[in-house]
Amino acid sequence: MYDTIIRGGRVSTASDTFDSDIAIRDGKIVALGHDLGEAAEVIDASGLWVLPGGIDSHVHISQPSGEGIVMADDFESATRSAVIGGNTMLLPFCLQERGDSLRQAVTDYHAKAEGACYTDVSFHLIITDPTPSVLGQELPALVADGYTSFKVFMTYEGMALTDMEMLKVMAVARDTGALVMVHAENYDMIRFMTEQLEAAGMTAPRHHATSRPIVVEREATHRAISLAELSDIPLMVVHVSNREATEEIRRAQSRGLNIRGETCPQYLVLTEDDLDGLNMEGAKYVCSPPPRDLDSQKACWEGLQQGVFNVYSSDHSPFRYDDPAGKLFPKGRTSFRWVPNGIPGVGARLPILFSEGVVKGRIDINRFVALTATNHAKTYGLYPRKGTIAIGADADITLWDPEKRQTLTHALLQDGADYTPYEGMEITGWPVTTMVRGKTVVRDGALQDAKGHGEHISRGFTQG
Ligand code: URP
Ligand code: ZN
Ligand code: ZN
Repeated sequence: MYDTIIRGGRVSTASDTFDSDIAIRDGKIVALGHDLGEAAEVIDASGLWVLPGGIDSHVHISQPSGEGIVMADDFESATRSAVIGGNTMLLPFCLQERGDSLRQAVTDYHAKAEGACYTDVSFHLIITDPTPSVLGQELPALVADGYTSFKVFMTYEGMALTDMEMLKVMAVARDTGALVMVHAENYDMIRFMTEQLEAAGMTAPRHHATSRPIVVEREATHRAISLAELSDIPLMVVHVSNREATEEIRRAQSRGLNIRGETCPQYLVLTEDDLDGLNMEGAKYVCSPPPRDLDSQKACWEGLQQGVFNVYSSDHSPFRYDDPAGKLFPKGRTSFRWVPNGIPGVGARLPILFSEGVVKGRIDINRFVALTATNHAKTYGLYPRKGTIAIGADADITLWDPEKRQTLTHALLQDGADYTPYEGMEITGWPVTTMVRGKTVVRDGALQDAKGHGEHISRGFTQG
């Protein structure tokens, strides 16, 4: 007797597609095949894809974002939107603020997530203050405790590290086996451009994009890869937005370096023209790097198709629009410099890739699974417990109706913001039922009473 059998669906993993029923007991997949026997619950999956639940390895939740600015999502609302969008696990960040202890930051984020989550979660670290005690004690101890990835920023006031500091963080990664993720934009170029634009009165949200042209990202990507090469470590270049940065990663890969790349929905379907708009409407699309142009979108699709990028994440970083603590932060009217950076996307990520990628024939279903689940699990030390459908894996499963049409609206996505940058987008293919460790958290499109089911998952090291 099983707890659940998912019957009659077509299963896809990153490598295979096959018709199979799935039997689940105690939150794990325990049998695959046909005529599996009896279960307390049988879910009819005929006509549906049965896929590993999405893992979004780049989300910001409840992260301090500056005096007077409040992120729109807490762990409840972010993970709620995530499961509605077919995800079963998120990897948010623990931000170390300058002068603070990294261990304390981890404790604080655990407290924020405790009892609130619909998905499982596991934290990356953001290192803003690589003091000798952080580098020598806190970081190695946290890696040993299963926090095996950390992000460093090359831009943003209060967050940007110097090359020397990046090298010191990378040395810890070399010693411990942790994975470094990098936000690659040249801080001084942005500061210079911002001063010039403000002096010329070019302060509207659109000029957020003008202040950080492609060269800003390309140079920093090249530099980050060079620092990783010197340090002899793998590197994940996150949220890549354009062809030139993609080419830097491709060139490093062709030289045999272990450089990985990530892109996000905003770089596949938005452009910098979205930052135009009457009054402050363009602020809804302010994120870094900014969306670019049609050729950049094409390059990002090619990066996904060709394996230059091995993960596709949302970089969910939500702020309410109509809110002085969000995109309409009063100083933002005086310059784009003060508009909070980041856009919501955790709920929209998978439907956009399914519809624009699988349904339109740009990628096949196996690559979809790899880009949205399996490669996240392998990259961040969760595989094979997470990210696949196999005996012994957690029963993190999403049933997709490939024919279902939806118009993306903020109301549908149920995150804590008050808009989606993808409002009105027509989607074909929708995640109708989502199960986290065997518990159905979304059933036929309806959110279930599953708040607090999500757990923290300790991680191992990068594979593959
Ligand atoms: O604009 C963005 N992407 N905000 C989120 C923080 C980051 O840089 O990933
Ligand atoms: Zn970033
Ligand atoms: Zn981010």
